[in-house]
Amino acid sequence: MASFQNFMFFFFFFFFSLLLSPSIACERCVHHTKAAYFSSSTALSGGACGYGDMASSFNGGYIAAATPELYRDGMGCGGCFQIRCKNPNLCTSGGVKVIVTDINKSTQTDFVLSLSAFTAMAKEGMTRDIKRLGIVDVEYKRVPCEYKNHNLSVRIEEISWKPKYLVIKVLYQGGQTDIQAIDVAEAGGWNWRFMTRNYGAVWNTTHAPAGPLQFRMVVTGGYDGLMVWPEKGIPAEWKAGAVYDLGSQIRAVAQEACSPCDASDWQ
Ligand SMILES: *[C@@H]1O[C@H](CO)[C@@H](O)[C@H](O)[C@H]1NC(C)=O
Ligand SMILES: *[C@@H]1O[C@H](CO)[C@@H](O)[C@H](O)[C@H]1NC(C)=O
Ligand SMILES: *[C@@H]1O[C@H](CO)[C@@H](O)[C@H](O)[C@H]1NC(C)=O
Repeated sequence: MASFQNFMFFFFFFFFSLLLSPSIACERCVHHTKAAYFSSSTALSGGACGYGDMASSFNGGYIAAATPELYRDGMGCGGCFQIRCKNPNLCTSGGVKVIVTDINKSTQTDFVLSLSAFTAMAKEGMTRDIKRLGIVDVEYKRVPCEYKNHNLSVRIEEISWKPKYLVIKVLYQGGQTDIQAIDVAEAGGWNWRFMTRNYGAVWNTTHAPAGPLQFRMVVTGGYDGLMVWPEKGIPAEWKAGAVYDLGSQIRAVAQEACSPCDASDWQ
């Protein structure tokens, strides 16, 4: 039975990743849109991804709410984008790198940035000017996330209770990949149970094994559905509210087969 489930798991995600690839394949392309900002810094901290107050500590507070197309039912949570405003008198050419922590359904903009991220696009001395505009034309592209001081980690959500009900939040996912699936098993064991994306970056199962746990994940980035086996798991005595370092990082997956981008010259 277990091996049949494993087989179905591989089969399903192989198929699934092929289906998904056309949209993902173009994520490194440059897109043109507008960006605005949240005037209240607390507006992003309750974000739909479920990062809560942690969001404001990510990336120096350079965070963003994205359209449903980029949020993708939570799969876009934790994705990184480089955004620059198109007015060269106002803005630097490098722009700003932000992490998606929320959804915004505004039809006017693809991104609503934290105020610090929005003003970080401006040249020196232009902060007040860009703020006054409130909304600017931008171009953006997806970029790999880089966490210098963090490995891929999970936070055990307070709602979890031992041994069976496990709710985790995925943190500090590097690279330029999407997590399609997460399985959990007892460390060293093969009885994998799938987890369900609860919302945003939060996953749950009511069938967590007792004992120390290990995870495996299916990620996509380009055309590949890749199984990732983090180095470490979580101890049997896991605590709700604690963050556990999984000891490895998901790197960018090569995207050889990306369809042509119009402005791939933006480095
Ligand atoms: C989306 O962002 C705008 C600011 O541009 C804000 O006024 C609005 O409340 C946001 N919508 C949601 C659903 O957060
Ligand atoms: C887990 O998440 C799913 C999807 O949001 C939800 O339907 C389900 O009720 C959650 N399970 C539990 C036990 O909370
Ligand atoms: C990341 O994981 C490696 C390998 O387990 C470990 O040596 C390193 O200390 C970890 N880094 C951080 C920031 O915890």
